[in-house]
Amino acid sequence: MIRYTIHGGTPLHGELTVSGAKNAAVAILPAALLVDGVCHIENVPDISDVRLLLQIIETMGVAVRRVGATTLEIDSRNARCVPAPEELARKIRASYYLIGAQLGRFGRANVALPGGCNFGPRPIDQHVKGFEALGATVEIEDLSVFAVAENGMKGSHIYLDIVSVGATMNIMIAAVLTPGLTVIENCAKEPHIVDLANFLNAMGAKVSGAGTDVIKVRGVPKLTGGSYSIIPDQIEAGTYMAAVAAAGGNVVVQNVIPKHMDCITAKLREMGLSIAEYDDAIRVEKTRSLKAAKVKTMPYPGFPTDMQPQICVCMSLASGESAITEGIYDTRWRYTDELQRMGADISVEAKTATIKGPHELHGCTVRAFDLRAGAAMVIAALAADGTTVIEDAQYIERGYEDIIGKLTALGAKITRDVVTD
Ligand code: EPU
Repeated sequence: MIRYTIHGGTPLHGELTVSGAKNAAVAILPAALLVDGVCHIENVPDISDVRLLLQIIETMGVAVRRVGATTLEIDSRNARCVPAPEELARKIRASYYLIGAQLGRFGRANVALPGGCNFGPRPIDQHVKGFEALGATVEIEDLSVFAVAENGMKGSHIYLDIVSVGATMNIMIAAVLTPGLTVIENCAKEPHIVDLANFLNAMGAKVSGAGTDVIKVRGVPKLTGGSYSIIPDQIEAGTYMAAVAAAGGNVVVQNVIPKHMDCITAKLREMGLSIAEYDDAIRVEKTRSLKAAKVKTMPYPGFPTDMQPQICVCMSLASGESAITEGIYDTRWRYTDELQRMGADISVEAKTATIKGPHELHGCTVRAFDLRAGAAMVIAALAADGTTVIEDAQYIERGYEDIIGKLTALGAKITRDVVTD
């Protein structure tokens, strides 16, 4: 177990640089399996989800070499169609992209059903619907997915029943080497979807429409390789912005695409944070106390569910009654019990949380139940008086590169221990 200890109450000052986007990287790395050549991928975040995926693709004959601080050389010329190691695949939700990648490259796939954060049921029926439309037979047995296209795959028209980030990207990956035209309708529009399409196109694919709700993929016989740089992580940037809203201070968040931040910037401004946007940076400054707000999480360009726990901490510190309605997952509220133990006043009914503030937060021992819940605990601890101990902080390291170093540079008092018992 990893444990963080945070002595709160110190405002954050200085600059930090956001890493490459986790949810782009975890799709692009499996998609590199499609490339019958060498690709150089820059701005790859050094986070545990990425390290796990790299371990998995290495077992499939993919050669991975670090050629720069954040650049990887990935050579999939000798990739083999072998099952993804079950114990690794189950640890990470994004292993589902290996189904699309194996199917696209080899016409068959065998991947254990994905794990990841537990927010209630997270089916993959829309992914399966897409693979079947392309000509694959998909079976799920003993919590593993077996897909095979005995007679090859063929471009098809797929209408997604729900807007799904994973299904949109997985079908795109499976379709890139599939002969004919694949049209995916009712697509998700997140920045990482555009990033995956840009990566695939840089490798020789023909994908158009990413970022709109209709994506077209014209199959090509081969992807040959090239260079690509992953976009900055919208949620990592938003998390540090929320940390300034909660703990106070004045911070320049470098390496962001301000347009991707609009949904988060608008809400934090409404709550009273001063935010200035530059070409590839954002300055956040807390000059007054926070005001209550209402937010509903939605697919992009709406307010992201992956910022829901972090904004909840800010709302606990804001004056008035705030509300959050969760629009993506059935349940994502486990962290609210931990925040209440720190002094927050939150009541949850079905998909809506009502947060009354302002309430001072007090340090105590809390758990990180998942990645973003853990990020919320860090933010709460930075704003709290006294000392907070965050247990199970390894979840945070699934998605935040060097969070200790980045926060320490801003003046936070945070330490990390590995606890063995
Ligand atoms: N859904 C289905 N069937 C499907 C696919 C999804 O019913 O076949 C449902 C889900 O249960 C959920 C909704 O549709 O209620 C949206 O799910 P989506 O497929 O968009 O999410 P995902 O691909 O499983 C990715 C991110 C999540 C992020 C969501 C929403 C990765 C690896 N994960 O998950 O990221 O919350 O999109 O934006 O990209 C995180 O980074 O903390 C995280 C959890």
